[in-house]
Amino acid sequence: MTDIDPDRTLASLVEETPAYARAFESLGLDYCCEGDRTLATACDQADLAVDDVRARLRETRDREDADADDWEGLADLADHVVETHHDYLREELPALQDLVAKVARVHGENHPELRELEAEFSELAEEMREHIEEEETELFPVVGKLDRGESPSTDEAARLREAIRTFEDDHAATADRLDRIAELTDGYAVPGDACASYRSMLDRLDRLERDTHMHVHRENNVLFPRAEERLPTGPAEA
Ligand SMILES: [Fe+2]
Ligand SMILES: [Fe+2]
Repeated sequence: MTDIDPDRTLASLVEETPAYARAFESLGLDYCCEGDRTLATACDQADLAVDDVRARLRETRDREDADADDWEGLADLADHVVETHHDYLREELPALQDLVAKVARVHGENHPELRELEAEFSELAEEMREHIEEEETELFPVVGKLDRGESPSTDEAARLREAIRTFEDDHAATADRLDRIAELTDGYAVPGDACASYRSMLDRLDRLERDTHMHVHRENNVLFPRAEERLPTGPAEA
């Protein structure tokens, strides 16, 4: 089995072996928004020994399903993003928002940080809902066109590049909100007085963060750059 090259980027490692995402999550290495760093650099910045991390990745690879994310085409990947991540968010965000509100109501007195959590989550939920709708109306239909071999006009291509930059900015803003939520819950730690709803809320927030990392990785590091490669270059019409 091939060894893990420390000069490869985190994004390319996860693209080839999605199971690495789990190891990166537990080590606190950001492979989505900051996935263009090499493994060596990321370890250095996090003060981790690169050889220990490589050993951990090898273990993960040997233990888990190490199949590559293998996409027939861009439209296939876009469909996968919708079915796996967007549909999950459409269902989970409103349900989790209700749960966060309920937990804040019941436990807010003993845990005043839950008030800020509730406010932060409702901003996050609204932004994410808007963001996925925009991706599905502005970007994914053009991805389908590119896949069918149709070439968008230079004007359309310029609009698309601009949309992609906006989506990347949204991803960074989402990452900041998720970081704040992890901070407010002390890394989803279960307090001694937590009831079943409180535990479930922490569990689901944790899952939301992990799912969003993979979601953003698939867009920022795979779908967006591949779509951009296929766009015609040249000045946009005025
Ligand atoms: Fe998305
Ligand atoms: Fe996105």
